[in-house]
Amino acid sequence: SCAERSAPVARVFRGTFMHSSGSAPLHILEDALLGVNEQGKISFVGAAHEVDCLSKTWGFSSSQIKELGPQEFFMPGLIDTHIHASQYSYTGTALDMPLLQWLNTYTFPTEANYKDLNFSKDVYTKVVVSWCEKFCFLASRLHNFCSLFFFSDKFGQRALVGKVCMDVNKAVKHYKETPEQSKKETNRFVHELLRRNYPLVMPIVTPRFAVSCSPQLLSHLGDIAKNNNLHIQSHISENKEEVNLVKELFPSCQSYTEVYRKHNLLTDKTVMAHGCHLTDSELKLFRDAGAAISHCPNSNISLCSGMLDVRRVLKSKVKLGLGTDVAGGYSPSMLDAIRRALDTSKALKIKDPQHETLSFEEVFRLATLGGSQALCLEKKTGSFEVGKDFDALLINPLVQDGPFDVFPDDIVGTVIKAEHALHPFDSAGDDRNIREVYISGKRVVPFQKSL
Ligand code: GUN
Ligand code: FE
Repeated sequence: SCAERSAPVARVFRGTFMHSSGSAPLHILEDALLGVNEQGKISFVGAAHEVDCLSKTWGFSSSQIKELGPQEFFMPGLIDTHIHASQYSYTGTALDMPLLQWLNTYTFPTEANYKDLNFSKDVYTKVVVSWCEKFCFLASRLHNFCSLFFFSDKFGQRALVGKVCMDVNKAVKHYKETPEQSKKETNRFVHELLRRNYPLVMPIVTPRFAVSCSPQLLSHLGDIAKNNNLHIQSHISENKEEVNLVKELFPSCQSYTEVYRKHNLLTDKTVMAHGCHLTDSELKLFRDAGAAISHCPNSNISLCSGMLDVRRVLKSKVKLGLGTDVAGGYSPSMLDAIRRALDTSKALKIKDPQHETLSFEEVFRLATLGGSQALCLEKKTGSFEVGKDFDALLINPLVQDGPFDVFPDDIVGTVIKAEHALHPFDSAGDDRNIREVYISGKRVVPFQKSL
């Protein structure tokens, strides 16, 4: 049926759309029409045979309709719920140590270099540019953060950007702040970003993790988040040595989760990376608070941190998205995160035949709608629902010279259609298959070419 016309449509697409909902991990809308209004929001989703009625209601002509190719489809943008912009410079190297040693040896000395403004500008431009195919979530530090959110906005990227805070660092003693400095810098960061009024870039309060933060600093950050109703991100229960250390450092807290909860850092706008070793009672604290977990399977395997049982988290009704966790994870690609999430689920099955593996479609949902829920953005992004922003990837799984040109012609077009197109793309596709990227209705591709 025809909806009533409100804002004028700016774009209309006709073709296949794949997305998720709470009731099904994969919906395939074949031969659909989708309209995007001038504010970048989805104004209608209908069937192509309703074209006459839709064009009358929404006031577009048939020449305005952009038709997708026969193999092409739209999917919601991939949402990276945890990535370190300031670790981009050493992505894919130095994964030979467990977490705490890795942080002390590689991460802290590298991040300390970001006080050099030219260095930070250079890396942050590359970060935003090379991660253009998704809407991500970045962490930065100190004086250089302006360039990160400036570039995010300039390239039309949707991002939650945080300034990493830590006042305890025994390994690299000059790379830390006092609790007062950290509070002041976070306030400066938050207010500068809010003052700029970027449409898609928002601040997120970022204590590094309980090991690196005094109770005083955690309290300051909890207050800032509460007073400004802000998002919060950190790390939790990534590796067992870390969990034991937190027990020693916070003897009065019942659990790692309780450390954050006690300092007002566990809210419905909180996303905690990893959570591999959370107990049932901690998952319940997450659920009660409405807090989310960012599952970073590449990093969890690369640093031998642990294997998150996503099935258990979902059964506990805790919100969950996927993250790349560069540089703990060696790949900035969300397609890699999808594959590693499936691998982890299958490894758990090998260990325990009773384990119920995640389906392909479920992991697709985690990478899209799951991410938007984890970031408390499900009213804005994550699926093709009327009223949401049009954040989408146009996929052609069979692009020339792409990863699938080995497929003989008779398989192409028979086996690979509808949902079958999604599987090879998710399993072995890459940037070559991502033909166009839209964020909030704007086409944001080819950044590389424009530089
Ligand atoms: N825990 C605290 N800081 C970090 C970090 O930078 N990366 C990872 N993977 N875990 C952390
Ligand atoms: Fe991380």
